[in-house]
Amino acid sequence: MKILVINGPNLNMLGIREPGIYGKSTYSDLVEMIKKRAEALGVQTEFFQSNHEGDIVDKIQAAYNDADGIIINPAAYTHTSIAILDALKAVAIPTVEVHISDISQREDFRKLSYVSLIAQKTICGKGFDGYLEALDYLSHRRVELRMV
Ligand code: DQA
Repeated sequence: MKILVINGPNLNMLGIREPGIYGKSTYSDLVEMIKKRAEALGVQTEFFQSNHEGDIVDKIQAAYNDADGIIINPAAYTHTSIAILDALKAVAIPTVEVHISDISQREDFRKLSYVSLIAQKTICGKGFDGYLEALDYLSHRRVELRMV
């Protein structure tokens, strides 16, 4: 099973960026943490971070017939990108949306998520642990699918 982990704009600045909201750990810390859990679960992972909407759309399209699941934190594009929503709809790969902060408790403009319209599950406000929960969810979902 292969899971593609996509992080959107400014998440490469984790550790520097608003540590009161996003914490002091870096993007590489996040990747290492997910890799460790993935190894324990026997899941293959691929990581992609971009500050560019079109590059994220290209990556989602390239996952067609390649990835079995997507974990995505679209960052600010969550609230604006119909293109990312449409790409996820096009490939129809099981998707979990993750936000480090709780977007429902912040500014009004963060309350709308286009990606939530396609995501099987949305995890918010659990910090980096949200990505691990997403990984667990997608890998257990695989077990359920095999059992059917
Ligand atoms: C975020 C929340 C978004 O509103 C924000 O634009 C981000 C990060 C989060 O992980 O909490 O860049 O997706």
